[in-house]
Amino acid sequence: MAGKKSTFQKRLEKHHDELRWLYMELYGNDDMFAELCSQMYEYDKQRSQQLKKMDESREKEPDWYKKNDILGMMMYIDNYAGNLKGVKEKLDYLEECQVNYIHLMPFLDTPKGRSDGGYAVSDFRKVQPQLGTMEDLESLTQACHERGMNVCMDFVMNHTSEDHEWAVRARRGEGEYMSRYFFFHDYSIPSQYEKTVPQVFPTTAPGNFTWLQEAGHFVMTTFYPYQWDLNYRNPRVFNEMVYNFLFLANKGIDVMRIDAVPYIWKELGTNCRNLPQVHTIVRMIRMICEVVCPGVLLLGEVVMEPEKVVPYFGTVEKPECHMLYNVTTMASTWHTVATGDTRLLKLQMDIVSRLPKEYVFLNYLRCHDDIGWGLDYGFLKQFGMGEVSHKKYLNDFLTGAIPEAFGRGELYNSDPTSGDARLCGTTASLCGIEKAAYERNDEALAQAVRLDLMLHAYMLTQSGIPVIYSGDEIGQENDYTYHEEPDRWGDSRYLHRGKFRWDLEEKRKEKGSVQEKLFTGIGKLEDIRKSLPVFHTDADVHTIDTQDHAVLGIVRENAGQKLTALFNFSAYEKTVRLEADSSGTELISGEKLEGGEVRIEGYGACWLLEE
Ligand code: GLC
Repeated sequence: MAGKKSTFQKRLEKHHDELRWLYMELYGNDDMFAELCSQMYEYDKQRSQQLKKMDESREKEPDWYKKNDILGMMMYIDNYAGNLKGVKEKLDYLEECQVNYIHLMPFLDTPKGRSDGGYAVSDFRKVQPQLGTMEDLESLTQACHERGMNVCMDFVMNHTSEDHEWAVRARRGEGEYMSRYFFFHDYSIPSQYEKTVPQVFPTTAPGNFTWLQEAGHFVMTTFYPYQWDLNYRNPRVFNEMVYNFLFLANKGIDVMRIDAVPYIWKELGTNCRNLPQVHTIVRMIRMICEVVCPGVLLLGEVVMEPEKVVPYFGTVEKPECHMLYNVTTMASTWHTVATGDTRLLKLQMDIVSRLPKEYVFLNYLRCHDDIGWGLDYGFLKQFGMGEVSHKKYLNDFLTGAIPEAFGRGELYNSDPTSGDARLCGTTASLCGIEKAAYERNDEALAQAVRLDLMLHAYMLTQSGIPVIYSGDEIGQENDYTYHEEPDRWGDSRYLHRGKFRWDLEEKRKEKGSVQEKLFTGIGKLEDIRKSLPVFHTDADVHTIDTQDHAVLGIVRENAGQKLTALFNFSAYEKTVRLEADSSGTELISGEKLEGGEVRIEGYGACWLLEE
C-alpha cells in the first residue's frame, strides 16, 4: 500500500521527467541516472533538520533574496580573521557593517604555490588545514544562520588541481581517471583546439594545454597548467561533482558560486565557451538543488558580455542560476571614472533596467579578480574610441601612468602582441585615496573619498544584491607585499587581496578619518537603501537625461515612492535641472529640494526622494 509521500519524493516527482530527459540527452546512461537519484536521496537523508526547515521556509517564499535587505561582503578567510574560527569570532564586525551575506573565498584544500587563490581544488571535502576543518565550517554557517546571515562559497567545477586524487591517478595512466580529464597523446588535437579557443591567462599561463612529461600526454588546462579541465562528457564526472556539491551544501552553504561555469563543456571547432550543454548541466544542477536543498541559491560566475550572461538565468519555466554578476556594469563604471563621461554607463543601465525584474544581479565595484575591459566598443566607436587605444587609455589612467591621473592600479595579463591588458587595484587606490594620502594632499583626499562614496551610492542604487569587497568599507589601499613573494609575484590580482587592516578598522571611530568617512558614509547609504521600498527589486528603473554627460541620472519608482539618483563623475560642481515642480528630500544630506534645481559637488551623489 502506498504510504504518504515524503517531501523528497514530491520534489523529485516534480523534476524527475525533465531531469531524466536532460540526463539521457547528454549521457544516455540509465544506470548512472539511477545512481544519481539514489545519491540525491542519500544527501537528502543527511541534510540536517535545521537546514530542512530553512529549505521549507524559502520554498514558501521563493523571492526571499529579491528584496532590498541583503548586503554582501566577500573576503578571504585568512586575510580577514586567520581561519574559520576567527571569522566566527569576527561576526560582530560584519553585523556592524550591516552585512548579512558573506562570500568566503575558496577554502578547500589546495596545493601551496599552485593554488590560483584556492581555485585549484585538490580535495572537495577537506578544508585547507590552516583554515580549519569541515566541523569549523559547519559551526560557522550555523552561527551565521543564527544571526540571519547567508554564506556563499565557490564551487570550482570546471577543473581540479593536478594534486586531486583523480589527477594523480590519471597521471599514473589509469584509464578510468584519464577519461575524467582531456588527455591527448600528441599535439594534433590540441593544436586544432588552439585555433579556436581564446586564452584566459595569455601572459601568466599561455595556451590551453600542458605537456605531462611523465605521463607522455597533453592535458587540457584552460586556466593555469596545474588546473586540469574536467571532462563533463563523462557522466562519472558529472555525478561525482554533484555529490561534492550536495556534500558542501549540507554544511550549511546558502549560495553556491559556480565558478567559471561557461567553460565546462568543450567541443572541437568552437571557442569552448557557453555551449548549449553548459546550460543543460546548469539546469540539471538547479533541479537537483530544488530536490535536495531548495534553500540553496546558484550564483553563476559568467564574466562575459551581456548577451552571454543573461541566458544563464534560464527561462521562467526552466530557470538556471538564481543570480549572476553584473560584470559589464562594473567594468563600465570604471570606464566612467576614467573618462568622466556617463554615456556608456547610461546605456548599460538602460539595458539592465529593461530585463525582467525576476533577474537578480549581484552588483559590485571590486572583487578578487582583475577588471577586464569588456565594454561595448561598438557604442564607443561613435565617440572615436577604438578598442585597443581605449583600453590603453583606461589602463594608463587607472595605473596613474598619465601625470594627472589619480588611479593607482597595476596591469594584469598585459599582452604585448595584442596590446590588451586588464587591471587590478582596490577601490580606494583606484579612486585616488592612495595617491592623495601619499602626497598628503587633503583636498585631493577629500575628493577621492567623495568619489569612493559616490561609487558605493551608485552600486546601492542598482536593483539586486550589492556586495562590498572586504576592506573597501574602510578604504583599504593596495597591498604591494605580493611583489616579494615568489608564489604570488607573477599574479597582480594579489595587489587587491591584502590582509584586512584591523589597525585601520580601529580608526573608523576617529571622527574625520578616511576610515570613519567611508564606514559611516556607506553605512548610512545602506540604512537608507534597506528602509525604503523604492530600492526593492520590484521597482521600475530608468535613466534620465541630465543635460550633462558627466552626470548620470537614474529614477526608481515603487510603492508610490520616486527616487531620483544623480551621480557626478566629474571633479567639478554641477547643477542639474529636474522638472520644475520637483520637490523632496535629499536623503544623504537630509536637505530639502525645491524648484527642481539640484547642485551636486564634484564626485558627489544625490538621492532625491520626491514628495
Ligand atoms: C574564476 C575565479 C578566478 C580563477 C578562475 C579559475 O574566474 O574568479 O579567480 O582564477 O575562476 O578557477
